[in-house]
Amino acid sequence: MTKHIAVSNFTPSLLDEALSISKNTLIANQVEMHPLLRQDEMVEYTKQKRMHLVAYSPLAKGMIYDIPEIAEVAERQGITKAQVSLAWLLSKQNVVPIPKATSEEHQRENFEALDIRLTSDDIQLIESIEDEERIIDPYFAPDW
Ligand SMILES: NC(=O)c1ccc[n+]([C@@H]2O[C@H](COP(=O)([O-])OP(=O)(O)OC[C@H]3O[C@@H](n4cnc5c(N)ncnc54)[C@H](OP(=O)(O)O)[C@@H]3O)[C@@H](O)[C@H]2O)c1
Repeated sequence: MTKHIAVSNFTPSLLDEALSISKNTLIANQVEMHPLLRQDEMVEYTKQKRMHLVAYSPLAKGMIYDIPEIAEVAERQGITKAQVSLAWLLSKQNVVPIPKATSEEHQRENFEALDIRLTSDDIQLIESIEDEERIIDPYFAPDW
């Protein structure tokens, strides 16, 4: 009856449990991901299981604008800080960012990020950011 099943905010152990009781694989897990929350383990997990990782709050609701490494990549690539974050997410084979933008200008900018290719130096610099921030963490959240 259902062709594709996706989940959100599942941890690796919750995915293990879901996969063990589902006849078909899950197509995606939607989790918070941006340069302040890299999700290395979940990126690897979903890649191994041939799943997509849908990255919500990909601009960290604006928190990425104050990060010096993001500003540096934006300047040397001649792109905006939002595009740096989206292009970094898109550099991961199975990651699909879903920015929310109400203004037309932001929507255009975000679509343009689909064509931006960061260099390995850019990616290395972004991944050297030490600060970590999880924005969405309600009381009913799983044990991340
Ligand atoms: N599954 C879950 O539990 C879960 C939890 C949270 C969020 N989500 C989903 O994730 C999606 C996006 O997340 P979010 O809204 O939390 O955060 P976000 O996409 O990181 O940030 C949205 C904010 O960024 C601004 N923005 C968008 N594009 C921009 C650009 N190019 N330059 C500068 N600012 C820009 C928007 O402003 P403007 O509106 O003024 O353009 C808005 O204030 C939503 O569709 C939401 O439903 C899912």
